[in-house]
Amino acid sequence: MNFVDTHCHLDDEKFSDDLIEVIERAKIAGVQRIINFGGDLKTSAAAVELANRFSGNYAGVGIHPEEIADFDKNSAEKIIELAKNKKVVAIGEIGLDYHWEKDSEIHLLQQKIFIEQLEIAKSLNLPVCIHEREAHGDALKILKTEGKNLRGVMHCYSGSLEMAKELWKMGWLTGFDGPLTFKNSAKLPEIVKAAPREMILIETDAPYLAPVPNRGKRNEPAFVVDVAKKIAEIRGETLEDVARYTTENAEKLYNIGGIKF
Ligand code: NI
Repeated sequence: MNFVDTHCHLDDEKFSDDLIEVIERAKIAGVQRIINFGGDLKTSAAAVELANRFSGNYAGVGIHPEEIADFDKNSAEKIIELAKNKKVVAIGEIGLDYHWEKDSEIHLLQQKIFIEQLEIAKSLNLPVCIHEREAHGDALKILKTEGKNLRGVMHCYSGSLEMAKELWKMGWLTGFDGPLTFKNSAKLPEIVKAAPREMILIETDAPYLAPVPNRGKRNEPAFVVDVAKKIAEIRGETLEDVARYTTENAEKLYNIGGIKF
């Protein structure tokens, strides 16, 4: 079986002691391909570096909504420069986060920088990976206008079933990770059950949000299999089936099909 961890952060210092073993364990678990996402210029460059260093690793580059303080014209140019690397497969993670940030002026600034990066994705013909927390309405509004003609995923999906349905209709995928396996997974199982299979991606967001049975520990790409198992259980499908279609979805969205390891 073959899995893709479509969202993680192997540049995190929590992996500095055993990165090679972590990637080895992922391969043994069937997770041949891993997409690392940056959240600022430094981590975006680190994601590109990882992609160049390890086969099967790819990168997404962008400025996360919580890292927008120093965003300027120069940052946009640097992202475009990084994105020229062959192993950069997406712009992300970008988006809106109103959970930590309550200031409405900063919300507007987040929106502006989000839109600016959507434009970068358009100009480079790359898909986008969106981080969105407690900003469902604004995110949807932006995707309906500035997000037109773009492809992408709402990663670590935390919205409602209604919003998911709107996203799917617009061609946006939803990414699921550890929280789906938690006891307090709330509405996530219902959303996973309702999702068309071509709209489902699996991810870890490692080192954060480790799925059961490793909840609370450091997360790593090998654990994406536990997310796939949960999806299979909820939808009454075989693990082989879930592995196959989530891999196809990842290959299609991020253009990593074939043997481009
Ligand atoms: Ni992330």
